[in-house]
Amino acid sequence: MSLTKLIENTENHIKALFENEGTGHDWWHIDRVRNVAVKLAEMEGADLEITELGALLHDIADHKFHDNDFSALPRATRAWLISQEAPLDLVDRVEKLVTEISFKGAKVATDTTSIEAACVQDADRLDAIGAIGIARAFAYGGANKRLLHHPDFKPTMHDDPKAYASDKGPTIAHFYEKLLLLKDRMQTNSGKALAAERHLFMETYLKQFFKEWEGQG
Ligand code: ADP
Ligand code: NI
Repeated sequence: MSLTKLIENTENHIKALFENEGTGHDWWHIDRVRNVAVKLAEMEGADLEITELGALLHDIADHKFHDNDFSALPRATRAWLISQEAPLDLVDRVEKLVTEISFKGAKVATDTTSIEAACVQDADRLDAIGAIGIARAFAYGGANKRLLHHPDFKPTMHDDPKAYASDKGPTIAHFYEKLLLLKDRMQTNSGKALAAERHLFMETYLKQFFKEWEGQG
């Protein structure tokens, strides 16, 4: 099977799986991450097909929806690519890539070992910040019955991926536990530049949020 056909099949498979997801992990998240990741890959000189496949598959079996089992994602990625008779070296590269993407807590290192993973990680994190990031955070918070905000709740700088994944804090706290930290963790120069504007927008948003919370503005 050609790589073009493999990418097309993967896109159709993921689209069918995620079309009706309502927690911010819908097909359009995957599609945005794919588009931005490929754009970054072009600028960074990364392998475009590995990047695109990695982006399409990066949320195929999120640990949050699999009892916090971090091995579900590489397993599902491998199984899908093998079912498509993809070449084994490609299967290995994409399987490794998907494990290196997600944020796992403020104090948990998430270094990438390939430029393709760096592009997908940056693209995924860009989709977690800015106007879309804000929308996704509240969609996730609502789907998981979290408070918008609690003035007494102190954000946690998690050093344990499982504790981070099972955190039940208000959505505003999530900004301090993840979203506002992402701009300094961008891996590619192109990603850094894109993150700056989105970060600024979140700061403006939070300023207004707290002003309104206090009954001003
Ligand atoms: P990604 O798809 O970027 O890897 P996640 O799977 O961690 O991100 O989360 C999906 C979306 O839900 C992201 O925008 C993320 O910021 C948001 N989210 C994750 N955990 C929380 C939380 N505890 N409270 C609010 N939003 C969250
Ligand atoms: Ni994602």
